[in-house]
Amino acid sequence: MGKVVVGLAAGCAVAACLVAAVMVGRRVRRRMGWRRVLRVVEELEEVCATPVDRLRQVVDAMAVEMHAGLASEGGSKLKMLLTYVHDLPTGNEKGTFYALHLGGTNFRVLRVQLGGQRSAIIGHDVDRQPIPEPLMTSTSEELFDFIASSLKVFVGKGDDVSELSKMGKRELGFTFSFPVKQISFSSGLLIKWTKGFAIEDTVGRDVSQCLQQALSRKELDIQVTALINDTVGTLAVGHYHDEDTLVAVIIGTGTNACYLERADAIIKCQGLLTTSRDMVVNVEWGNFWSSHLPRTSYDVDLDAESPNPNDQGFEKMISGMYLGDIVRRVILRMSQELDVFGPGPSKLHVPFILRTPLMAAMHEDESPDLREVARVLKDVLEIPDVPLNIRKLIVKVCDVVTCRAARLAAAGIVGILKKIGRDGSGGVASGKARPKPGRKIKIKRTVVAIEGGLYTNYTLFRVYLNEAMAQILGEDVAPYVIIKVTEDGSGIGAALLAASHSASSVVDTVL
Ligand code: GLC
Repeated sequence: MGKVVVGLAAGCAVAACLVAAVMVGRRVRRRMGWRRVLRVVEELEEVCATPVDRLRQVVDAMAVEMHAGLASEGGSKLKMLLTYVHDLPTGNEKGTFYALHLGGTNFRVLRVQLGGQRSAIIGHDVDRQPIPEPLMTSTSEELFDFIASSLKVFVGKGDDVSELSKMGKRELGFTFSFPVKQISFSSGLLIKWTKGFAIEDTVGRDVSQCLQQALSRKELDIQVTALINDTVGTLAVGHYHDEDTLVAVIIGTGTNACYLERADAIIKCQGLLTTSRDMVVNVEWGNFWSSHLPRTSYDVDLDAESPNPNDQGFEKMISGMYLGDIVRRVILRMSQELDVFGPGPSKLHVPFILRTPLMAAMHEDESPDLREVARVLKDVLEIPDVPLNIRKLIVKVCDVVTCRAARLAAAGIVGILKKIGRDGSGGVASGKARPKPGRKIKIKRTVVAIEGGLYTNYTLFRVYLNEAMAQILGEDVAPYVIIKVTEDGSGIGAALLAASHSASSVVDTVL
């Protein structure tokens, strides 16, 4: 009996030791795992760092690449596309015009009434709808038929007959937010798709004609009179309200910029014979690349697994289509180091499941227990009960990724300002050295029109971008550069340009 008791006691003691050992082991593993997770975040922070010196290198690289892209076709990753837009709206435009915007996430149709005096956009109606995902990879005909049908419904809802008789022919400005080699102000060939679109049979075709043909298939009597990029529409609206607007930037699903280039720079570089006037150039900066960009292994993987590897590198670090997925990749990496993400299957492996607005919601969660972060992790990624310290780290990851994106976008903007000599340094084209310290330079007021959900809806992104602009430009120059948000500029701008082109019909010839 005694032996049994002793045996039992010994057995219990061994079991207790084992349990204790397992618990200690688990605690040690957790602690080591926690350290490794911390390291993941620290490394991310180190690689993503964008001190002002580095941003200035990006500024210089952007200005140099712009110059190279203008000088010869294929001279840079920057396409520097000529738009044939010389005249930005003056304010004298009058009448009712339609606009259609095919961009990233949404598709919009607009009717804009112009009153003929500066800032007299009497009114505009908009119909917005998401682009059905299957259409993004379907055929040209399917996509353009969908667009034409939506326009037909919209036109049918709003045209009043008396207005129509005054309008005579209906005219439409088409904002097509992808790289296009313009043939004229109203036509152009699609160079490539970006932002997840992949419709092979449209590449190389005149997208204006594709739309015009779809409109006639749907028996809709509208003439496509302007074909523009969304950046150009934004510049048009910005300039309509404020003549000092020389640059426009989109920071939404994708990112890009355009600016007003001096006629002499274009003649010299592109051999345009009759261009004696300035012209808007679509930079297509989404494809910008420089060794100064702070690139992580997450960026490399995202790019390799994307439908367009080695393409749109700058866009993949900045725009709304990608930021959420960079964060998802970092969280996935964290989950491989620590078991608090649960043993079960999560959605962390699903590409693009963490959309950027959800990431922004986590980043801007101000509740003390980070409730929103917990909700997104549980509802979207199917990871319940993540401890608070890990949730804090996830907020940090969002912060690092967004801060890098916003600061790089700021450097891009200053790069353009430098190219046109509005950054206070004399400009890259002029070849002037930076003015000697203490010497006064005359600085002109320059407005940058900006549009896109990432900038307008994500407060911290906006704060970081503005802060970086001020840091790069310095306190003497920064007050002269004004960032102004335009609303629906990419759409309204197309109507405005269709209107201004109704009045003028200047044609360029290319040598
Ligand atoms: C992508 C497109 C570009 C567009 C931008 C913003 O970068 O290539 O044309 O302007 O997205 O929508």
